Formats: sequence, structure tokens, C-alpha cells
Amino acid sequence: MKDEKREISRRDLLVGAGKVAAGAAIVSVGASGLIRPGKTEAAQFPWGYKKLDLQEVGDIAYNAWYGKFCCQAVVEGLLKPLQKSIGDPYASLPLDAFKWGHGGAVGWGTLCGTMTGAGIATGFIAGPEGEKILNDVIAYYASTELPIYKPANPKGSFKNVNRSDSPLCHISVGKWMEKEGVKFFSPQRKERCARISADVAMYTAKLLNDWADGKYKPAHGSNLKDNGITTQENCMECHGDNVPTPIT
Ligand code: HEC
Repeated sequence: MKDEKREISRRDLLVGAGKVAAGAAIVSVGASGLIRPGKTEAAQFPWGYKKLDLQEVGDIAYNAWYGKFCCQAVVEGLLKPLQKSIGDPYASLPLDAFKWGHGGAVGWGTLCGTMTGAGIATGFIAGPEGEKILNDVIAYYASTELPIYKPANPKGSFKNVNRSDSPLCHISVGKWMEKEGVKFFSPQRKERCARISADVAMYTAKLLNDWADGKYKPAHGSNLKDNGITTQENCMECHGDNVPTPIT
């Protein structure tokens, strides 16, 4: 009974989709059933790239942070210029769909949203190659004293930079809050995260530009292969001196 229902609704959908396609030449229905106005065939994945201006990328990300936060800030820094230079499908992508990555996924303190944003953008831009770039961006984030970016018109200020040794929002921001001596909802912390969004977007764009020039060489290896478990590299921060050896 259930199967029959599903079959009928599927058929209805196909009939409906056919009507849409027949009714208007400007509307087509892809294999996924998604209606894409103004397109005759589904866009080829990945969507491609035109080299980015690093300063522009950083400035967009920095300004977008105020209002949209880290994940969307990085997505906007990388994809807004491509919406202009390439057009569709980038131009049709609603960037507000990527706000959720803030605070390490709606405040859960997991992956810093800047890198969720970098991964979303590199995925669209470069597909599987994008994973290698993201891997290097995460290694950069965890091993670099950040932020580096200096806005032309700063919206705030703070004293300290820090090296997170971790890609986790909670750990990165927590270590920095301790050093700076400020609360999470302080103007200093906001400014720090806004500038880090610029740094991550700019570093990602730098690697993408190298990739576009055929000069990109993946640098960071596989944490999973090296350690026998999905992991970060700061083992002792959580395990102390007793870092367990994975069963292999
Ligand atoms: C963010 C904290 C954190 C980091 C960083 C971390 N671990 Fe873990 N790991 C845990 C927690 C929590 C568990 C769950 C089991 C436990 O409490 O010991 C676990 C479990 C494991 C396990 C499987 C369970 C066991 O006891 O055998 C292995 C193996 C392991 N970690 C190895 C590592 C290695 C190697 C690294 C560094 C390359 C690492 N971990 C980094 C928190 C962490």
C-alpha cells in the first residue's frame, strides 16, 4: 500500500514536472527535480573559479561577519566576487543558507565556522580538489597566530592574537578569551572573529589562486591515516599524558 502511494506520487511528480518543462521554455527540471529558472541544463559540478583579489575577499568577509557571522562571512568573501565574475550558478545561490555554521554550528563550538564556510565554497568551486585545499586551510588555522588581517576601517579593537592548535571554535575562542580577559559577548571577541573570518577567506583564496595557476601542491597529510582515527593533532590537550593508541 505504502509502495503504491510512493509510486503514484512519483508519477504525479514526473507528470507535473513535464508540464512545467513543456509549458515554458525558460524553465527546465533537472534530474533532481529542482526547478532552475533560466537554465536549460543542470550546471556542471564543480562550478569553477576565476582568480580572486585577496584584499577584496578579506574586506567582504570582515564586513559580512557583522550580521552574518563567521561561516557566511567566509562564504561571502569567496563566492560574492564569483557571483559577479561568473554569474550562474553562483549568482542563484542564496548565501543566507550558510549562516548556520556560526559558533561552530549554531553555537555548539565544533568546527570554527570560518572553515565550514571555506569548505562550502571550495566544494562548489573545486569539488574533490576543494577537500585538499580545505585540509590545508584547517592546518593553517590551527598553526598560525591569528588574526593577521587589519581592516581599513576597524569596527573594533583588541590586544591579543593567538594560535589555537585546534580547529574547534570552543577551544580557539576559549584560549583567546582567556588571554584577552574578555567575555564571549564582548566587542573585542566579535572583532577578533570578524578579522579571523577575513584571514581564513584570504588564505583559502590564495590557495585557490595557486590552484587556478596550476601551482597548488597539497601540504598537510591525512590526520585519519596518520593517527588511525579521525582527529585533531592536539592529542594531549584532551588525553593528557595518556594518549590512547587506536586499534588497528
Ligand atoms: C578535543 C579533545 C580530543 C583530542 C584533541 C583528541 N582526542 Fe582522542 N578522544 C577524545 C575523547 C573525549 C575520546 C572518547 C574516549 C575517552 O574519553 O577517552 C577519545 C577517544 C580516542 C580514542 C579511542 C578510544 C580509546 O580510548 O582508545 C583514541 C584511539 C584516541 N582518542 C586517540 C587520539 C589521538 C591519537 C589524538 C591526537 C592525534 C586524539 N585522540 C586527540 C578526545 C580527544
